[in-house]
Amino acid sequence: MGSSCTKLLVCTKGKHCSARDSQDVLTFLRKTIEKAQLDYVLKVKKTDCLGLCKHGPVVQIDAKSRVKDKAKDKFKDKAAVSYGGVTEIDCIDIIERHISKNKPIKRLLIKRGKQK
Ligand code: FES
Repeated sequence: MGSSCTKLLVCTKGKHCSARDSQDVLTFLRKTIEKAQLDYVLKVKKTDCLGLCKHGPVVQIDAKSRVKDKAKDKFKDKAAVSYGGVTEIDCIDIIERHISKNKPIKRLLIKRGKQK
């Protein structure tokens, strides 16, 4: 995998997310990325519990992806972004809004300090 790839981690091994169909989210995310021919820059990986269980299914986008902070009108690229309660429809939003347009999806965003 090249260093320019953005990784999307889907918690499929944690018991809470797996009970909430995270495997389906992972499969749909992979199919959508492949269909859009973005699989050379976006990699979807299974992961174990990310410590955000009550928000499952959880998708975390690695720190290399960049999100525009509208308030400060500049890009942030330090922290990983975690989305919770992700459904198949949300996968399309993650790709079209977060990845392509650098716009975070507020309704899915897991805020820091609201873990487990
Ligand atoms: S079970 Fe998925 S974040 Fe813990």
